[in-house]
Amino acid sequence: MSLIRIDRPEIEKMGRIERLNLVNSCTGYKSANLIATISNEGKTNVAVFSSITHLGSDPALIGFILRPTTVPRHTYKNIKEYGYFSVNHISADQIADAHHTSANYPEEISEFDMTNLDPVYHGGCPVPFVKGSPVKLLCKYVNEYLIEENGCIHVIASIEAIFYEEELLSPDNWLQLDKGKVVAINGLDGYAQPQLLERFTYARPKSAMD
Ligand SMILES: Cc1cc2nc3c(=O)[nH]c(=O)nc-3n(C[C@H](O)[C@H](O)[C@H](O)COP(=O)(O)O)c2cc1C
Repeated sequence: MSLIRIDRPEIEKMGRIERLNLVNSCTGYKSANLIATISNEGKTNVAVFSSITHLGSDPALIGFILRPTTVPRHTYKNIKEYGYFSVNHISADQIADAHHTSANYPEEISEFDMTNLDPVYHGGCPVPFVKGSPVKLLCKYVNEYLIEENGCIHVIASIEAIFYEEELLSPDNWLQLDKGKVVAINGLDGYAQPQLLERFTYARPKSAMD
């Protein structure tokens, strides 16, 4: 296979979709999550996000990137209003519905009503979770940073509770995501199902004896 090179001026000259597909896929697989929220009026919302990343484990923090708020962003609005939201891993049998949550519905329409995704409530908390999601996090808004270069917002949140299907847990507290058929996102519309190849012990520098 020949290796193609594309430089920045060429990327900048591309059509929107052409550039979006290339740039969104070239950084690798991304996590696939549904953020579910509730507004002050009690309206639920659920949307797919591929930018949720681990920020640290002590304290347990996550972050995600929110597109510029030049158009209404219901997830963001609800998070700012209520302060709490849920992050739900997408499993293979949910991908079509999960993808559809990115459609631009008006605020009064819940994506839960427009898909086969169902809200479920855990532990008396009014924040909806996604039924059937194998790993779910209850998160609390902590802070945000404007990314001045493109108007996106980096939202920072703490993990307040972790819910997972029992079969995913290994004896050392590691969650084996492929047991829950958790998917990853390739670009903006490709969904892949990763499979564990190997786990390794903590890597230490090699000594001359090795
Ligand atoms: C695969 C995929 C990943 C997405 N990831 C993000 C993301 O990380 N950040 C974001 O702001 N929007 C993302 N979106 C777009 C949102 O899903 C979309 O704007 C949705 O309508 C937001 O809904 P809301 O206005 O109800 O919050 C993604 C869309 C798709 C299809």
